[in-house]
Amino acid sequence: MRFRSVFFRAASRAKLGAPAQQQRFRRTYSHLRRPDSERPSFGIAFDIDGVILRGRTPIGGSPQALRRLYDADGFLKVPFLFLTNGGGVPETKRALELSELLKVQISALQVVQGHSPFRRLVSRFENELIVAIGKGEPAAVMLEYGFKKVLSIDDYASYFNDIDPLSQYKSWGLKQSYERNYNSEGLQPKYDVYSERVKGAFVVSDPVDWGRDIQVLCDILRCGGLPGKENGHQPPLFFAADDLEYQAVFPSERLGMGAFRIALESIYNSINSRPLEYTSFGKPNPFVFKNAESILTKLVTNMCQVKETMKGEKCGLDTIYMIGDNPKVDINGANKVGHPWFSILTRTGVFRDKNNHEQYPADLVVDTVEEAIDFILKKECTS
Ligand code: G3P
Ligand code: MG
Repeated sequence: MRFRSVFFRAASRAKLGAPAQQQRFRRTYSHLRRPDSERPSFGIAFDIDGVILRGRTPIGGSPQALRRLYDADGFLKVPFLFLTNGGGVPETKRALELSELLKVQISALQVVQGHSPFRRLVSRFENELIVAIGKGEPAAVMLEYGFKKVLSIDDYASYFNDIDPLSQYKSWGLKQSYERNYNSEGLQPKYDVYSERVKGAFVVSDPVDWGRDIQVLCDILRCGGLPGKENGHQPPLFFAADDLEYQAVFPSERLGMGAFRIALESIYNSINSRPLEYTSFGKPNPFVFKNAESILTKLVTNMCQVKETMKGEKCGLDTIYMIGDNPKVDINGANKVGHPWFSILTRTGVFRDKNNHEQYPADLVVDTVEEAIDFILKKECTS
């Protein structure tokens, strides 16, 4: 049975040993398996910021809308996942947070974040020294994916005296380094950062201290992975997403990772003879939508115990709805991939206009996610 293999693969990844932990894990995934269920013909991908949440507050009737995708016993009726360009915490932790905020049971398999595709780079960087940048727990994210030698940019920068000439003016930085210096065995680098080159830099989530991060990244990238040394070959640089702006709690949009990328690139190219090289993931990259499609297919397989009659039958979905608030990112991405994607634009985030977006028109424009679910369920139940 497919569900069992997924269950046990994931369980061994999470190194679940104790029976209590295994039981907790089984509870976490049990809502995906609905006995004797029919194969669903459609799935849904939800953007988070500006559709489901603003900050940590649910918007657009999202908890009620999501509740409609489960049956009375809490089993998933409609395969869905979250497809966000945000991140900064491991998918397991994000799933728990979302379950709490939205009052429905969500598994890690249903959470695809901007940095989720970094997982695919483990074989290339597994034992190499890498630096992880961004809010939240960027190093924990990379360690959970299987990278072995990871330092957050906070820790990495703290090993180089005076690398940030403005640090003395940053009260938060002083507090952090005080705790690191005096509450443990002292400021001992985990790795020999003075002779071991950084082999890759990963912008996992929105950077916090842009000035310091741009300075330290320029040092790493210009000097072949060894700050303060002579110029060398630029190590690879990866961004989890490239959103210029996104909807957070403040009434107007906030600058996102794409804005940070522009700042870094512009400065790096002004001080270096060779232009910055980088790779960006996240929506609207078609790869992200293809990946979401295969995760939804996996979910379908998990939801339905594969019956004899279904063996060999294609488990693909006829329609996948992308519900997003950002025309350039969510709608553009879904439209570029085309079938089976159907794009729905809400007016709860970046987009607020009365009419459809001119450059990236959605297949449907609605006010809220609740309205989108209403449309989908009506359409799918009558077709
Ligand atoms: O930092 C979050 C942002 O870039 C967008 O998140 O959920 O709207 O894709 P989301
Ligand atoms: Mg959004």
